[in-house]
Amino acid sequence: MLHSARSVLRELIAFNEEHIRALFGETASQNLAQLLEHRLADVERAVAALRLQYPTYAHQLQVQFLVRTAAQIEAERYEQLREESILNRDIFDDLQRDLHERQGLLEAHPRLDLGLKREELIGRVPLFSALDENAKRSVARLLKPRLAIPDEFIVRKGDRGDAMYFISSGAVEVRVPPMPVELGSGDFFGELALLEDAPRSADVVALSYCQLLTLAARDLERLFDTEPAIRAEIHAVAETRRNPQVAAGQG
Ligand code: CMP
Repeated sequence: MLHSARSVLRELIAFNEEHIRALFGETASQNLAQLLEHRLADVERAVAALRLQYPTYAHQLQVQFLVRTAAQIEAERYEQLREESILNRDIFDDLQRDLHERQGLLEAHPRLDLGLKREELIGRVPLFSALDENAKRSVARLLKPRLAIPDEFIVRKGDRGDAMYFISSGAVEVRVPPMPVELGSGDFFGELALLEDAPRSADVVALSYCQLLTLAARDLERLFDTEPAIRAEIHAVAETRRNPQVAAGQG
């Protein structure tokens, strides 16, 4: 979708330059150009993020997209040659058959490994990696891997909280006044709503691709019962977040 959006936007930008100015004037054309450039920049950013996070997959997708585009151009060219009577019916049919076969092979999507293996993700969160193997296994049963993509709202202010999140890799932004707070690999969020049985206190938005582990609200007490050290750590961090000024003053 990103590759398609990018080529459509590039075509629209060229179309705007060639035709819109003449038809609707300078202001309309400039406004439209600004909007399209803005969208193209968004798409380029998303493609760059995808490429960084999943380089092999992004490369395979790009190759597939190029080969598909080439096949489409090839099909159009055959039609044109046929219309100009340069290709006779038999040769045209032969070429079409061959092309359809190749296009069929292009339908299969490359496989995407999201890297969401629970044990690996747990190993990257210090709170869990310190546990012994037995405890790690039982904690692992409570955690579910989840992927978040750039700009995704993982938590929305005011919503009811039904889970908390541990960041195995990636970065998120907690939108609190006066300045957003960035959290990264090893941090957690979404605990306040569960501990206080209150609505979410802030939006939390993914800044990059994030591999997360989610813990459902109903499993929090089970984790706390078996792992008192984790309970103490989560409570301590929650306390500084509830009262950031006090924490800053003490620090
Ligand atoms: P919750 O209220 O469930 O949802 C929003 C989350 O943002 C909140 O839990 C905390 O995990 C996190 N959060 C809120 N305030 C801060 C802060 N000052 N610093 C870091 N994280 C915060």
